[in-house]
Amino acid sequence: MLSLENKVAFISGAGSVGDDPDAKVWGNGKATAVLLARQGARIYGVDLRKEAADVTKALIEKEGGTCLTRGVDMTKANEVKAAVDDCVKQFGRIDILVNNVGGSAPGDAVAMSEEVWDRQIDHNLKTAFLSCKYVLPVMEKQGTGAIVNLASVAGLRMTPGRAHVAYSTTKLGILAFSKSTAISYAKKGIRCNTVIPGLMHTALVEHRLAKTIAANDLQGLIDKRNAQCPTGKMGDAWDIAHAVLFLASDEARYITAAEIVVDGGLTATTGLG
Ligand SMILES: NC(=O)c1ccc[n+]([C@@H]2O[C@H](COP(=O)([O-])OP(=O)(O)OC[C@H]3O[C@@H](n4cnc5c(N)ncnc54)[C@H](O)[C@@H]3O)[C@@H](O)[C@H]2O)c1
Repeated sequence: MLSLENKVAFISGAGSVGDDPDAKVWGNGKATAVLLARQGARIYGVDLRKEAADVTKALIEKEGGTCLTRGVDMTKANEVKAAVDDCVKQFGRIDILVNNVGGSAPGDAVAMSEEVWDRQIDHNLKTAFLSCKYVLPVMEKQGTGAIVNLASVAGLRMTPGRAHVAYSTTKLGILAFSKSTAISYAKKGIRCNTVIPGLMHTALVEHRLAKTIAANDLQGLIDKRNAQCPTGKMGDAWDIAHAVLFLASDEARYITAAEIVVDGGLTATTGLG
């Protein structure tokens, strides 16, 4: 079940914020890379910070898996193209593409500068566009391929008092990007789907959000996020990785232009009371 034997997976943002090799809390890309490798895939992990991807590589190799890494800024077309070409040169194919790079910046339309808006569009949308631009022809030649894009519940529901207008806009945009790509390539054996994470206990919470929105009160932030979830607990990067694995696997062969919401029921709530 869910074997990825003989498959090659290109994963963007395969590292995680905070490069502690012994870290217990991981980012979504790192957990996805390790899980896909456990299922037999050879991993080509790219990250803006190669050292972060190399932490993932070491974990995979310790378990007997195969992982190559490369420092790539996924917002730069020439770097993305060079990485895709190198992946094909090293492994001969690309069966799975996981577009995991993304992140939020605070602010509404008035508070946010034009520069931050543009950077958010590049970070959350252009990264997926560029990898698809160069990977789709490879998959088309193979006659097979599975793409999984990462969105966010921030594109589906808004939190009063905490706007991140560009993040919400781009993450909703990812759903349309995935569907459009899925329909264009449906007859060519290529599937494209989206995973929509909710409030996850990832490295981002530990390393960034605790500082930016919780005045270094990490436990207070964890308690608050747990309380906001219908289950009383955030999910973690493994929950996202398992959804990616399913959508990337042959068992999901008839699933395309679809979304899996991994949020413990969060988006089904009214947010009231
Ligand atoms: N963490 C959450 O709670 C959460 C919730 C909803 C959605 N998401 C989505 O999940 C995805 C992963 O989030 P995360 O918090 O696990 O990731 P993260 O912040 O840990 O980042 C993963 C890696 O991406 C790399 N990266 C950043 N910019 C890059 C670029 N331009 N090119 C290449 N690599 C780059 C970073 O160096 C980092 O190692 C994102 O798309 C995010 O929007 C996360």
